[in-house]
Amino acid sequence: MSFWQGKSVVVTGGAGFLGSYVVEQIRARKPGRLLVPRSAQYDLRKEGDVVRMYEDSDADVVIHLAATVGGIGANRRNPGRFFYDNAIMGIHLIEQARLSGVEKIVVIGTVCAYPKFTPAPFKEEDLWKGYPEETNAPYGLAKKMLLVQTQAYRRQYGLSGIFLIPVNLYGPRDNFEPAVSHVIPAIIRKCIEARRQGAESVTAWGTGRPTREFLYVEDAARGIALAAERYDKPAPVNLGSAREISIKDLVKLIAELTGYEGRIEWDASQPDGQPRRKLDTSRAREEFGFEAQTDFREGLERTIRWCQNNCSWARG
Ligand SMILES: NC(=O)c1ccc[n+]([C@@H]2O[C@H](COP(=O)([O-])OP(=O)(O)OC[C@H]3O[C@@H](n4cnc5c(N)ncnc54)[C@H](OP(=O)(O)O)[C@@H]3O)[C@@H](O)[C@H]2O)c1
Repeated sequence: MSFWQGKSVVVTGGAGFLGSYVVEQIRARKPGRLLVPRSAQYDLRKEGDVVRMYEDSDADVVIHLAATVGGIGANRRNPGRFFYDNAIMGIHLIEQARLSGVEKIVVIGTVCAYPKFTPAPFKEEDLWKGYPEETNAPYGLAKKMLLVQTQAYRRQYGLSGIFLIPVNLYGPRDNFEPAVSHVIPAIIRKCIEARRQGAESVTAWGTGRPTREFLYVEDAARGIALAAERYDKPAPVNLGSAREISIKDLVKLIAELTGYEGRIEWDASQPDGQPRRKLDTSRAREEFGFEAQTDFREGLERTIRWCQNNCSWARG
């Protein structure tokens, strides 16, 4: 806890899904000051705004979560924007961090940076052994360049930058908008709406055969806070739950938990995305004592309950 004492902490993207939980974790650790720069005041794609953000915050510690994100559909429609926004925000943030004498910067990467056919479980050493799955490659590679930047800046300027790779996240306060949502919120919404409307079937994307690993968002936020406090090395670190589930089984489980009893149809004309995703999570455990705690079923139940209490589309 003494790591945070008297420090000025900036959490970019701190009003977003993951960011809101990271802010809760940091606030509980009582830093000197905590700033969440919103995009309306500081467009972090613009160098001048990033410079102003550092001047205004006098940051000691930066946790960089701000990003342009979305599911497979959003990635396919916006490959250029996903590449540019994510690369340029990180490049300015890290460059201005060193110029303004920041003590530590924590950069959040993504599992989409891994090569398409990485042997499971994905080890951090395998990050460079191939090209990512095509639909999310521009996003994944833009973020992977920030790993290179933190490593280069550590070598040349002694900047203490670390790079974390969270697997797919889920939990309350996720984005349930169909145009941008990831698989869990997309399926929860489809099942709840189908049940409410008495629909006979819901359609899920792809074949259902790929596997995914999911980390409850609160666990991810705790992992990020622990890494900020305890980890200071150039090597990237996976943040995951080490639990793999096929999309088919995931959809069945969400149908059961939402009370949807109709048919599930698969639209195989839509992409499956990466065939398999499961992380090796041993480095996070060994280096900063992080292990996921939330049971998957319990995490899904909390997420569904949150929708029922907070989303107009989920209420009768
Ligand atoms: N969700 C996942 O499954 C997942 C998995 C692995 C890694 N990650 C990583 O975790 C981080 C957070 O993801 P998330 O799902 O929480 O995303 P999110 O809810 O969309 O939040 C992203 C935040 O980024 C901010 N932002 C976007 N463009 C900006 C700009 N030009 N200038 C300043 N701020 C900007 C937004 O701030 P405003 O609200 O102020 O506009 C927004 O609150 C991202 O780096 C993402 O790559 C997410």
